[in-house]
Order: sequence, then structure tokens, then C-alpha cells
Amino acid sequence: MSHASSPQGFATRAIHHGYDPLDHQGALVPPIFQTSTFAFDSAEYGAACFSGEEKGHFYTRISNPTLALLEQRMAALEGAEAAVAFGSGMGAITATCWTLLQPGDELITDTTLYGCTHSFFMHGLQRFGVKVTRIDMTDPQALADAISSTTRLVYFETPANPNMRLVDIAACSAIAHRHGALVVVDNTYCTPYLQQPLSLGADVVVHSATKYLNGHGDVTAGIVACNAELAMRVRLEGLKDMTGAVLSPNDAHLIMRGLKTLALRMDRHCKNAEAIARTLASHPAVARVYFPGLESDPYHALASRQMKRFGGMIAFELKGGLDAGRTFMNHLSLITRAVSLGDAESLAQHPASMTHSTYTPEERAAAGIPEGLVRLSAGLEDIEDLIADIERALAASQLRAAA
Ligand SMILES: Cc1ncc(COP(=O)(O)O)c(C=O)c1O
Repeated sequence: MSHASSPQGFATRAIHHGYDPLDHQGALVPPIFQTSTFAFDSAEYGAACFSGEEKGHFYTRISNPTLALLEQRMAALEGAEAAVAFGSGMGAITATCWTLLQPGDELITDTTLYGCTHSFFMHGLQRFGVKVTRIDMTDPQALADAISSTTRLVYFETPANPNMRLVDIAACSAIAHRHGALVVVDNTYCTPYLQQPLSLGADVVVHSATKYLNGHGDVTAGIVACNAELAMRVRLEGLKDMTGAVLSPNDAHLIMRGLKTLALRMDRHCKNAEAIARTLASHPAVARVYFPGLESDPYHALASRQMKRFGGMIAFELKGGLDAGRTFMNHLSLITRAVSLGDAESLAQHPASMTHSTYTPEERAAAGIPEGLVRLSAGLEDIEDLIADIERALAASQLRAAA
């Protein structure tokens, strides 16, 4: 099954890229190389692998054929030269930063980040002499004002977890490059199906593959995608020596199984989220909906430019704030109360006490993460059932508030 050189569509690449069954005894599904180490046919060959003269696999923390196939596929989907797989999204993020930053460097980031990325920057990197500057990167001018010759990395999520702020990837990348800084974008919320940051000028894409890429809630994993030279450095420094955050071959296999349906799943996640957002926006119990697919959303125009659709994540505040939000969550019966996102099951969580409890209340206020915010990951269930569950829980939240 040789594939012609013309660029293939996204779903075709997600299913086939980098693998020909006829090279593997006809096995339709790529074999799982569940091995930690690899035999050398001579001591000299082993030495050549270690010195880099030979490209063979020799130890799975550095490379493995199953991981290599996932990496090639992710690179093909992100439009990158190369990718590196990790045992978690935090493994991918920390390995990237440990590789690219040194004491004395500055990292500029948006005020809103996933809670553990925030604590890694504020409590991890800063301890080792990296200056971390948080700005409102939804305004590219704020980046232009803050950046200097010591800025080494510009890092952001778009849409940001949990409050759905969007950052203009092309505008911020142009500013960063004028100052010699590299741009790292966390593309977890979108996946390459909805947004390809490298094509908009970013240098590195990081993912929690735990989320949509795997899509079935049974793996933790991370991905870094970038040019081949940077990827090699991230592999040999960030992965091999500094984090050791290697992915298991069996989990790489599960992610490749998930990738086969990524395009289908993302369309369904987006469709369900659009319907839920409209229901919330027109409901009297709801104070504010954060979803870039709504025409009234401040990021609607930017989302329409840089994303293919608006994604499967929604945040909202209820009239009655935190109490109403907790009552709403406690009255859900189909939607699961759980952190994480991007699974077949719809999930609801409370960022201030869960994923973003690593922020101080002042940091949350500055980042625009209200204490009563509820975050919803729209799953793949029938939309009528999701909306019925949400409407029941909304009614309960207001009855309680009125009592
Ligand atoms: C946007 C984002 N980036 C990174 C991570 C970290 O990924 P992991 O949990 O796979 O380490 C998460 C986890 O929730 C996330 O939401």
C-alpha cells in the first residue's frame, strides 16, 4: 500500500501515515514493540548506536519503533518535521522548557494556563533562575511591550484552559521572532485537526495527548512537535536526561488507535459544544458563557480565522456564582464530575477548586478565572441527552439559589 507523494488529507494521514502492512507480514495494525531494550549484533554496532553514528533503536527511553510511528504520525498531522512522544503532557512541557531555557533567560507567558503548567513555571522554573513574566497575551501589543533580548521563550495556550481566551498565534509569533525568541503553543484544546500553530508561525507545539488525541480516557501522554533539530535536542536532553518522561509502547498504540477517529470525533465534539453553548447562552440561570463559537464572544473573529471549528470545550458562570455552580455540578446525572477533557464521556469540573487550585485567588482573579466558573468538556453522547441533563441541573441550581 504505497502512498503517492501528493499531500494526503488529515484523516488519511491520521490512519495510514508512516506504516505499510506489507512491511510487517501483512499486519493491518502496527505491531507493539513492548520492549525496553534492543539486542546489538556486535559490541561495535552497540557503540555506534550510542555515539549516534548508527540510527538503530537501543533503549526505549530514547526511541522505540512503536513510539517512532506515533511520532511520525503526529509530525505529519501538525505539519512538523519531527515529534517526540512523552508519558504525559506535563512531561512534554517540562522537557521542552528544560531543553530550551537556561538560568538568566526569560519566559513570557499568558496569565491563563493549565494549573500545573502555571505551577511549573511559577514554582519550578523560577527556582532554577528562569525569569517568568505573565502578561495578557490576548493583546499582542502587551507582548511587544514586554519582550526583550533576554526573552528566550514565549509560551501560551489558545484557547486557554479554562476560560477560553484566545491568543493570536501569527501576531505573537511575528513579535517573538523579531526579538529572537521561540514560540511554544499548547495545542491540546484544538488538536491539529482544528488548528496548526506551526503553519501560523509558532516554533514548537506541545500537547497533552491524554485528551482528544487519545480520546478515550485511558492513557496519559504528551507530544512535542517542531523542527528536526529542536526535536532531537528535546529527545536527547529533555526526554533522555532531564525528565525521563517516556511513553509506554502500549500507550502509543492506544493513541494511534484514537488518532484514527480524531477527525470524526472532533467534528462531533464541536457540534455538541456548539449546541450546548447556545442552550447555556439563552438560559436565564446562566450569567456568562465562554465559548468562541458564539457570535457575541470577544474571540469569535480570531477563532474564525485561526481555528477550523470552535472546539469541544465550554466554560460558564451561573447566576448565584460558586454555590450555584456546585449545585449544578452535583445535579448532573449523565455528565461526569471529573477533571480532564476530550473523552467520549462529557465531563464537568470546577477550575478554582480543581485544575486551577494551583493559582492563588489573586492570580485567578488577574487571569480572569472566576471562582464560580464551571468547565465542561462536551463528549460524544447524543446531544438531546446532554441538553436534558444540563437543563435539569440548571433548574436545580436556581431552585437552591431561590430557597
Ligand atoms: C491545556 C493542557 N495542557 C497540558 C496539560 C497536562 O497534560 P497531562 O495531564 O497529560 O500531563 C493539561 C492537562 O489537563 C491541559 O489541559
